[in-house]
Amino acid sequence: MKIKISFVVLLLPFFITAGCDSEQKPPAGKNAETISTAPAATEVAAPTAAQESAAENKTVEPVAEPVQKAALSGEQVYKKSCVNCHGAGVANSPKLGDAAAWAHRIAKGNDALYNSAKKGVAGTAMMARGTCGACSDEELEAAVDFMVSGSK
Ligand code: HEC
Repeated sequence: MKIKISFVVLLLPFFITAGCDSEQKPPAGKNAETISTAPAATEVAAPTAAQESAAENKTVEPVAEPVQKAALSGEQVYKKSCVNCHGAGVANSPKLGDAAAWAHRIAKGNDALYNSAKKGVAGTAMMARGTCGACSDEELEAAVDFMVSGSK
C-alpha cells in the first residue's frame, strides 16, 4: 500500500503539471497566432507602400507630358504671338476684325491659311509660325481659326 500511495503521490504532480501544460497551450497558441499575424501585416504593408510609390511614379510621368504639351487655345496663341502685328495691322498685316482685309484670304480656304501660318508668307513680315516657334501646328491652326472667325 505504501508503494501504491507513493506512486500516486509521485504521479500527482505530473498530472497537475500535464493539466497545467494543456491549459497553457491555448494561450501559447494565441501568442503564436499573434506573432504570425504581425509579420503578415508587415508583408502586406510593405508592398502597399511600394505600390503607392510606384503609382505615384506612374501618375507623375503621364502628367508631366500633357503639361508640357498642353495646347494653348487659338485666342491664347493670338494674344501671345500674333497680336503684335495682327492686332493693329502692323507691317500691312490683315488686322483682326478687318473683314475687307481678310475676305480674299479666307476665300483661299483654311488649308492655305494654315500653311501661311506655319511657313510664313515669303517676302512679307509674316514669318514662319508667326514668331511662335514653340507653337504646335494645332496651336497655329487654332490661332488662324480664331482670327478668321473674328474677321468675317
Ligand atoms: C511680325 C508681324 C506678324 C506676326 C507676329 C504675325 N503675322 Fe501673320 N501676317 C503678317 C503679315 C504682314 C501678313 C500679310 C502677308 C501678306 O502680304 O500676304 C500676315 C498674314 C497672315 C495670314 C494670312 C496669310 C495668307 O495666306 O493670306 C495668316 C493666316 C497669318 N498671318 C497668321 C498669323 C498667325 C497665326 C500668327 C501668330 C502665331 C501671326 N500671323 C503672326 C505679319 C505677322
